[in-house]
Amino acid sequence: MMLADGAIRSGKTVAMILSFLLWSLTSFSGGDFIIAGVTGGALRRNVLSPLFRMLETFSIPWEWKRSESRLVIGANIYHLFGADKDSSQDKLQGMTACGAYADEVALFPRSFVDQMIGRCSVEGSRIFMNCNPNGAWHFIKTDFIDRAEEIGLYRLHFTMDDNLTLSPAIRESYARSFQGVFYRQYILGEWVSAEGAVYPMWDDEANTYLCSSPARYRGMRRFAAVDYGTVNPCVFLDVRDDGHTFWIAGEYYWDSSRTQRQKTDAEYAEDLSAFLGGDRNVQVIVDPSAASFKAELRNRGFRVQDARNDVREGIATTAVLIGRRQVMVEKSRCPCLLAEMHSYLWDEKARRRGEEKPLKEKDHAMDALRYLCHTRTDRFRRGEP
Ligand SMILES: Nc1ncnc2c1ncn2[C@@H]1O[C@H](COP(=O)(O)OP(=O)(O)O)[C@@H](O)[C@H]1O
Ligand SMILES: [Mg+2]
Repeated sequence: MMLADGAIRSGKTVAMILSFLLWSLTSFSGGDFIIAGVTGGALRRNVLSPLFRMLETFSIPWEWKRSESRLVIGANIYHLFGADKDSSQDKLQGMTACGAYADEVALFPRSFVDQMIGRCSVEGSRIFMNCNPNGAWHFIKTDFIDRAEEIGLYRLHFTMDDNLTLSPAIRESYARSFQGVFYRQYILGEWVSAEGAVYPMWDDEANTYLCSSPARYRGMRRFAAVDYGTVNPCVFLDVRDDGHTFWIAGEYYWDSSRTQRQKTDAEYAEDLSAFLGGDRNVQVIVDPSAASFKAELRNRGFRVQDARNDVREGIATTAVLIGRRQVMVEKSRCPCLLAEMHSYLWDEKARRRGEEKPLKEKDHAMDALRYLCHTRTDRFRRGEP
């Protein structure tokens, strides 16, 4: 087995695909191989497009049988798999493979990785894997990298220096796109766990302000970020955006377990209207699962946008905006958000199981803030000040 791990954009995928391709074509004829990515889409974007360019460069004949999810390259067959859920491994069962290529393997379920290794039973078979680092307790770290010699794994650790095509300016812009634990994992390439506060870059002084007059927000775009809950608390954030900074001007927080009363969608929609002072010229960012509430809001003339709900990536984005003080919170009007900011911790128990996620307690304003930051990052991703 071979594993390339390390920084993002360091050339892991390109190096591994080329190695896998040349090795498989020179070692076998008429063999079956596995090529796996997290999803079909990720596989096409990250693996197949560079692979096709290499095949063209080397003038190797190939055919993509899309409906059968396989590639015929030279005399070999390469079967394509997405590995995003526990049941993904079912498709591998019964197969006998001469080798496998696994892209972003740290995001695969363990069951798929084990099954994939088990399928490569032909004499002389090899397995090529690559990934970005994850937590220190992730199975790729504990059961593969740390036991490399014992299990016959050759590990190649990549840094951005290994990719000669990256200009200093591009490297710099990647480095500025991550903070805290994500910087250590994605830029430095370390297998480190997220511990303690989710947003250690938060600063009570530097990230807050006092607003004496609403005139201050004149000319700014307005958003409402919503974490919907019926049994759980429901949070709205009133957000003003000057194109650089999100000013969190106020919060609404309804905790039905504390007040002993659940609200209906219609009541919440009324509350949101009142919270925004009747302003309908507001884009409402709502967690995608709140289908009935979204319908209610649309009926009342609100513009509704589904939040991007990828927790890990969303936290990474929010952390950068907080660190750059592009998230500012009105300190007299957002008591729940400020309280949550201080109690929002990574889940210690989950970490020891190899999973990185925040504690699911008092995280409602935190979710709303993450929806806002991750859904509206176009500007920040372009790297503008
Ligand atoms: N050996 C190489 N030759 C030419 N370009 C490369 C090479 N390695 C990487 N690149 C370029 O750098 C980009 C990032 O490489 P990739 O393998 O996708 O990184 P990673 O998988 O580590 O995130 C590629 O899209 C390609 O443009
Ligand atoms: Mg890659």
